[in-house]
Amino acid sequence: MKKTDWAVITGASSGIGKEFSYELAKKGYNVALVARSQDKLEDVAADIEKQYERETRIIPLDLTHEHFAQELSDKTAGLTVTMVINNAGFGTSGPFLEIDDNREIEMIQLNCVAVTKIARLFLKRMTETGRGDMIIMASTAAVQPCPWFATYAATKAFDLHLAEALWYEMKAKGINVLALNPPATATNFLAEAGIPTQQKGLATAEQAVHTAFRALGKKPSIIVGGKNRFMAFSERFTPKKLLLTVTSHIMKKMISTS
Ligand SMILES: NC(=O)c1ccc[n+]([C@@H]2O[C@H](COP(=O)([O-])OP(=O)(O)OC[C@H]3O[C@@H](n4cnc5c(N)ncnc54)[C@H](OP(=O)(O)O)[C@@H]3O)[C@@H](O)[C@H]2O)c1
Repeated sequence: MKKTDWAVITGASSGIGKEFSYELAKKGYNVALVARSQDKLEDVAADIEKQYERETRIIPLDLTHEHFAQELSDKTAGLTVTMVINNAGFGTSGPFLEIDDNREIEMIQLNCVAVTKIARLFLKRMTETGRGDMIIMASTAAVQPCPWFATYAATKAFDLHLAEALWYEMKAKGINVLALNPPATATNFLAEAGIPTQQKGLATAEQAVHTAFRALGKKPSIIVGGKNRFMAFSERFTPKKLLLTVTSHIMKKMISTS
């Protein structure tokens, strides 16, 4: 890594993206912080500059807007971007037909369309220098279909498959891609998804970030937490009808826990 290297982090204003921003500055990257909330990005940037003496740039942007990729490209032009945390996303939960139509489409736009556009933008640039890393945020919800979380889980399955395929395509070009699959994690995500926040055994953003750095460059994807890795492995041998029944019970309990 060089002193002039930049990391671009989407969803840097809170949760896992914010944690990545601090950790990357600590590792020596300059950080370009992307999210909609300008005030929160300013706070994170000021704090990072003070703690780690790295350069920061804030890029307030709604990644569901049609022309965001051009704006992101313009605002990062001239930076040597060698790390991208393709992370901004949100979830919806509940019975499929009761979720607001627009919210579902907005989620697909952010979790799938924006993630793909960001991957295309920065991976193209990384191939010019032959080095770089990209972490794409998937989820443990990506490894099996999830009743009551149906569209969200499908968007994350998209992210997981995209990242794993890109891991293969990009490794010959000197670029690492990783899908990160956290379980339910203590961030704003839960409240935003309409899930009660008093869940037992939530992972932390720190745990997710440290797991990602341990796996980056070594494998196409990683699940956060040994128990979750074991569950995902055993699901491979579970008949689909049984798997859907068990998953639906777990998800229903999760969305109704109070
Ligand atoms: N927490 C969990 O349980 C969990 C588990 C598995 C996977 N994940 C995934 O982890 C990622 C990060 O989530 P988190 O847990 O850190 O949740 P979070 O604390 O709610 O963070 C979400 C981030 O995305 C940004 N964002 C949302 N909509 C945006 C938009 N339209 N344009 C630009 N930025 C936008 C938010 O910033 P602004 O509101 O300022 O725009 C925020 O910085 C998501 O992809 C999520 O699916 C989370």
